[in-house]
Amino acid sequence: MERIVIVGAGQAAQSLAAKLRALGHAGPITLIGEEPVPPYQRPPLSKAYLLGEMERERLYLRPESWYDEQDIALLTGTPVTAIDRAARTVAASGREIPYDRLALTTGAVPRRLPAAIGGDLAGVYTVRTLADVDAMAPEFAAGRRVLIVGGGYIGLEAAAVARKKGLEVTLVEAAPRILARVACTETAAWFAALHRAHGVDLREGVTLERLTGEAGRVTGAALAGGETVTADFVIVGIGVVPDTRLAEAAGLAIDNGIAVGEFCRASDPLIWAAGDCASFPWRGRRVRLESVGNAIDMGEAAAANMLGQSTPYVAKPWFWSDQYDVKLQIAGLSTGYDRVVTRGDPEAGQGAPVSFWYYAGAELLAVDAINDPRAYMVGKRLIEAGKSPHPEAVADTGTELKALL
Ligand code: APR
Repeated sequence: MERIVIVGAGQAAQSLAAKLRALGHAGPITLIGEEPVPPYQRPPLSKAYLLGEMERERLYLRPESWYDEQDIALLTGTPVTAIDRAARTVAASGREIPYDRLALTTGAVPRRLPAAIGGDLAGVYTVRTLADVDAMAPEFAAGRRVLIVGGGYIGLEAAAVARKKGLEVTLVEAAPRILARVACTETAAWFAALHRAHGVDLREGVTLERLTGEAGRVTGAALAGGETVTADFVIVGIGVVPDTRLAEAAGLAIDNGIAVGEFCRASDPLIWAAGDCASFPWRGRRVRLESVGNAIDMGEAAAANMLGQSTPYVAKPWFWSDQYDVKLQIAGLSTGYDRVVTRGDPEAGQGAPVSFWYYAGAELLAVDAINDPRAYMVGKRLIEAGKSPHPEAVADTGTELKALL
């Protein structure tokens, strides 16, 4: 009947709590989150929800009644301010909440532009929480001008939504190309062309000097080289940092996130961590994954281990992005690749299937599949089985995908 407290109420927390009950844990579970809503899906925030095509309740991972049914105490709107490892309590809203075992699923926080360059002007938004998107929704009216800072998936998905809604879009990416953190030049070039074809003024290798404003409200930006951009509002998608504040203050080991071992346990034997906030051992190195798939699976693995199992967490990375009518699916983790093999014709147009296969030597690491769910499925199965088809067979569209298995 140990008391389990979960700090942070996002996807990893939901998955962890549900798994604890599914595995038969009968003791008290308290789920504490600072947002005013129950755990919800974040991926649609920059896609269907921003577009206005998804109702708020459909974002919720479970209806509010589920928490009562499962006898899980859900404390929303409740920021946890400290962990006392000696007393085994967490402080929240003036209370000390005791735990026997603690899970940290604190997620990540978006990087912001510094206030000194206009980052705190009204009309400047990030895309991370439901509240963020609700706040910017009224800005999305046809004919208005939006400046998007950052060409990662957040910036690109926001650009696609804005164009669909008839806004004028300028996107500035500081690096020489978009998607530099997560994808190869081939994938980046494919998506850059897609956005330009949809009328986005996409500028790569352009440094934003500062946002400009009038009476406290953003009016545009000054770019390096003296150019200016006018904008009615600004969306900032320049990456996230793991939210390790509580863990750090409590003296837990941090290494690009809360450092956990193969069983999702942090440097305190009574504390586990999962999701965007946690870094874990994977194939001989330490990684941190920002993805819903990782939040779900790692939450479940942490739950099992919190109940005394010894189940190593073996991540099977996958990601996706929707932009316009294009679906990108990614299997594996491309970090460390030295070669990219193209399957299909990247010039064939927006609807045509094309995939990019990342290799390190002869080893297949990852696949970016565009409009090609079969390439994704086959790539995922190969990578998870540790199998690497010959690059020539991959590149030859005469070879059936299934034959690669
Ligand atoms: N000006 C312009 N571009 C910038 C600046 C800047 N000052 N700073 C960073 N960038 C660019 C980076 O070069 C990078 O291409 O912003 C991009 C940020 O991309 P990501 O780090 O991938 O982050 P983001 O797109 O914000 O996504 C954050 O949310 O949905 C998830 O998968 C997503 O986990 C990721 C997270």
